[in-house]
Amino acid sequence: MDIIEKAAAKAEKTEKVSLVERAAQSDTDADRLVLGADGSGAPASKPKRTSRYAEIDLAGLASQGYITPDSPPNTTAEEFRLIKRSLLLNAFAKGEAAIPNGNLILVTSSRPNEGKTFGAINLALSIASEQDLTVLLVDADFAKPEILAKLGLKGGKGLMDVVSDPDMDLSDCLIRTNIPNLTVLPAGRQHNRTTEMLASDRMEAMMREIALRYRDRVVIFDSPPALASSVAPVLALHVGQVLFVVEAEKTTDIQLREALGLVSACEHTSLMLNKTKFAGGKRYGSYYGYGSAY
Ligand SMILES: Nc1ncnc2c1ncn2[C@@H]1O[C@H](COP(=O)(O)OP(=O)(O)OP(=O)(O)O)[C@@H](O)[C@H]1O
Ligand SMILES: [Mg+2]
Repeated sequence: MDIIEKAAAKAEKTEKVSLVERAAQSDTDADRLVLGADGSGAPASKPKRTSRYAEIDLAGLASQGYITPDSPPNTTAEEFRLIKRSLLLNAFAKGEAAIPNGNLILVTSSRPNEGKTFGAINLALSIASEQDLTVLLVDADFAKPEILAKLGLKGGKGLMDVVSDPDMDLSDCLIRTNIPNLTVLPAGRQHNRTTEMLASDRMEAMMREIALRYRDRVVIFDSPPALASSVAPVLALHVGQVLFVVEAEKTTDIQLREALGLVSACEHTSLMLNKTKFAGGKRYGSYYGYGSAY
């Protein structure tokens, strides 16, 4: 936990030229730095834009049970609509209910194979179907990045490259897609100091900047299992919400409590019960809890 404590302490310091600010100084249209000039992911007219465009394999996604814009109404889409609703209420809460960085959502779980990537992609697709919202889907599973392969996209530079290279802009890594409201940020090459990079001032400043500057954006981070890597615990320092996937009849109470403890730096956690099988019942569930409520 040393690195987490160190990261928490660092977050309070005010060292300041974030890579976003730095990039903003070198580019007259700061909006392009993160998600594109008009926020929709659509092509921008400004000449300096560096994000690329790629086509998501919608048919491939649909065949694996993911929700896509053309899918007929189905149970998965309806269940993610319910999960999305409570996350969005938190993300855009106003006044006293406002949650710092509430529009940054970390998807994690205790162990491998519980449905984090499945949940992160479906949540992103569900939110991208909202008229007024845009989504940035970030692959933060650096050891086992799967988002791009699932979406049928080619790899490229990503989050870890930007965080570790002061000369790189986030916009160089973004992939705009044929789902107009959805932009993807690959994981990037694995760094031998991944945890330290994620806990760095640069990362902290970038996350704060993304959350504040792009208030109509939801940023979803797919991550490794919390019990297997320090990535999710460190990202929990930066995000406003955690969507914690629990695999029905597999995740044990002890694993759940231990893993929830590891991401407890984020005070707003919702549980998504995945892969339940009982006939006629819901396959997913979303429950809200705060910190020690679990
Ligand atoms: N609700 C679901 N319905 C159908 N298939 C599912 C569901 N949840 C997960 N899966 C499938 O289970 C497998 C594991 O899911 P996924 O890759 O999302 O797990 P993960 O938690 O991201 O694993 P890892 O920790 O290895 O990254 C995948 O083949 C995925 O498509
Ligand atoms: Mg995964």
